[in-house]
Amino acid sequence: MIDATLINLSAEHPAHLLDPVTGRLATEESLARVLPPRLARMELTDEPTIPVPAELAELYGTFRPTPLFEATRFAAALGTDCRIHVKDEGTTPSGNHKANSALWVAYHCAQDGVRTLATETTGNWGVALAQAAARFGLEVLCFLDSASAAARPDRAAMMREAGAEVVVVGEDRADGFDPLVLSANAAIDHVREMPGVRYIFGSVYNYFILPQTLVGQEALAQLGGEAPDVVVGSCGGGANLLGIAAPFLGRPGVDVVCAESEHCPVVSAGVFGDYSIDDRDFYPRLRTYGLERLLGSEYIGGLGSTLVAAPVAAFHRRGDLATRTFTSAEAVKAARLFEECEGRAVALETGYQLAAVVAEARARSRQRILVNISSTGHSRFA
Ligand SMILES: Cc1ncc(COP(=O)(O)O)c(C=O)c1O
Repeated sequence: MIDATLINLSAEHPAHLLDPVTGRLATEESLARVLPPRLARMELTDEPTIPVPAELAELYGTFRPTPLFEATRFAAALGTDCRIHVKDEGTTPSGNHKANSALWVAYHCAQDGVRTLATETTGNWGVALAQAAARFGLEVLCFLDSASAAARPDRAAMMREAGAEVVVVGEDRADGFDPLVLSANAAIDHVREMPGVRYIFGSVYNYFILPQTLVGQEALAQLGGEAPDVVVGSCGGGANLLGIAAPFLGRPGVDVVCAESEHCPVVSAGVFGDYSIDDRDFYPRLRTYGLERLLGSEYIGGLGSTLVAAPVAAFHRRGDLATRTFTSAEAVKAARLFEECEGRAVALETGYQLAAVVAEARARSRQRILVNISSTGHSRFA
């Protein structure tokens, strides 16, 4: 059993959710058309903290707190006198940070009487949701883009093993077209035909971000309550970054660094506007940063989200979030070095944040850097 409350980062940034059809501010009633009531309320609440229900606290307690270790060999190999503290979300049941959100979402959907969930995934989220939903007797349909299916065949197998149905979504439409939008559209087309099936997006929305804030809060406690100088997180939709950084954002003396792929610089080069994950006018639109398209076709897994959670944009606009952009070669190099030194294989997305750790460690002296393993590497840097 864990003893925790979640930090509601959206409480500071209200009124960013819009009805996709009318363009007006979303209400609980308008959100209820697409979200189960409990999830709809989470999108609008301005409570600064949210309690974890006892049944869920019990379940989280089976694998939380996740370990925090110091990567001394990695630091030595970089020739830095900085200390690198690594929070290990690779030890969750799904082997990635998404397990925190998956349990949260599955629990609340089950409470609301939902029987079937549909989602888009590049792999890790589908595994986490399939496993969590099975605990609550829910059925899951995962729409997986063809690039991820090819890069990560193990993830589809893991989703099926957990009882989910996996639908591989055809060839990507055009160079630069976001594969997440493609698979989200496919999932939404399915949901529209099947009353009673609820579509869940695997990042960005508050229902997804909230439980990730356990990660940063635990890390702070494991560091003896002493904040690090730098916190690093790779950013797809923002769940990983906001999760590890939650207690540190806006805190004087702590630099929060967002690691992005050069093909999807949504925080550093995104345009502030209204965006949705689908182009079907279905899911609520968010006032946040977005990109029209990806800037290349190289595989970047879950870092290819062309919109981010609204708090990521808000913190960046306020100057509380710095960005660093990397090539996949830099990400893979950092991941390889980390594996050689620490004996832990990590996923490609984690490689990006390790590349940011390398850059920060080389630019600083005698500082403490906090990063997390957002996923173990089930297959080679994928
Ligand atoms: C291992 C891993 N790290 C990071 C991310 C980034 O996504 P988000 O910012 O939504 O947490 C993903 C997304 O799929 C992921 O699988």
